[in-house]
Amino acid sequence: MKILVTGVKGQLGHDVVEECQKRGIEAIGVDVDEMDITDASKVEEVIKASNVDAVVHCAAWTAVDKAEDEVALCTKVNVEGTYNIAKVCKELDIKMMYFSTDYVFDGQGDQEWKEYDERHPLNVYGQTKCEGEIAVQKLLERYFIVRIAWVFGVNGNNFIKTMLRLGKERGAVSVVNDQIGSPTYTYDLAKLVVDMIQTDKYGIYHATNEGLCSWYEFACEIFKQAGLDVEVTPVDSSAFPAKAKRPSNSRMSKAELDKNGFNRLPSWQDALQRYLKLI
Ligand SMILES: NC(=O)c1ccc[n+]([C@@H]2O[C@H](COP(=O)([O-])OP(=O)(O)OC[C@H]3O[C@@H](n4cnc5c(N)ncnc54)[C@H](OP(=O)(O)O)[C@@H]3O)[C@@H](O)[C@H]2O)c1
Repeated sequence: MKILVTGVKGQLGHDVVEECQKRGIEAIGVDVDEMDITDASKVEEVIKASNVDAVVHCAAWTAVDKAEDEVALCTKVNVEGTYNIAKVCKELDIKMMYFSTDYVFDGQGDQEWKEYDERHPLNVYGQTKCEGEIAVQKLLERYFIVRIAWVFGVNGNNFIKTMLRLGKERGAVSVVNDQIGSPTYTYDLAKLVVDMIQTDKYGIYHATNEGLCSWYEFACEIFKQAGLDVEVTPVDSSAFPAKAKRPSNSRMSKAELDKNGFNRLPSWQDALQRYLKLI
C-alpha cells in the first residue's frame, strides 16, 4: 500500500509518516510548500502523480481563536482544502481519511458523544471542521472520519509544552476545570491510523487516549510526572475569556472502534509518561 500524508510538518502528519516507515509502508509526506490544499489544481496534480492508494489528510487550520477573526481563510483551508482532496480521491477511487474534532459538538450535558450524533459546533474552527466532514461524506463512500481532541505530539506546540514552559517560568498557573475531555497522543493515534487505513471499515470514529480529565487535572498530572513543583489553581472558563467558545463536555464514545475490532488507545496518563521522556 502507498499513502499520501498531508500536514507532514504538523503533529499528527509527522507521526503517521514515521509509523508507515516503521512498518515498511510507502508514505509520501507533503505540507503547504509541496501541496497547498487550497489550490485545487495543485492538489489534483500531486495526488495523481503520487499514484497512491489512500490519502491521510492531517493538514488543517488549527488556530482555534484566530479562526474567529479569519473565517474566510479558515474555511478555505478546512472546508475547500478538504473538498479539493476528496474530489480527487473520488475520481481516482482511492481511500481518504479525514481528521476532525470534538469541537463539532456543542458540549452540552455530561453524556458521551456518539459517533453519529448530530453536530452543533460552537465556534468557527468547529464549524469548518464539521463542513469538512460533510464534504467528505457527500463525495465519498470509501472514507474514514476520525475525531480526535486535545492533541499532543513531539512535532509541534501543544498544551503540555505550554504548561511546562509556564510552570518553569512562573511556578504557578491557573487552568480551567470546567471542560472535560481526553487528550490524544499522536504517536498512539498514528498506529491506529495505519491499521485503519489498510481496512475497508469505513465510517466515523472517535479516537482519543482512554480516560477523562479536565484541563486542570491534565496540568496537575503533567507537573507531577515531570517532577515540577508548580502551584496549579483550578478556575472556570470565564476566568480566561477566549475568542472562541469551547465545549464543556467532550466525552467521546469509542463504540465504533470497539464494533469494528480496533484497539482503543492506551490511557492518557500512560501516553503522557512516554511523551515526557521524549521532549
Ligand atoms: N491540535 C489539536 O488539538 C486538534 C484537536 C482536534 C482535531 N485536530 C485535527 O487533527 C488534525 C491534525 O492536527 P495537528 O495538531 O497535527 O495539526 P498541526 O500540527 O497544526 O499541523 C497542521 C499542518 O497543516 C499545514 N497546513 C495549514 N494550511 C495548509 C494548507 N493550505 N495546505 C497544506 N498544508 C497546510 C500546517 O502548516 P502551517 O503550520 O505552516 O500552517 C501544519 O503543518 C487536523 O485535521 C486538526 O484539525 C487537532
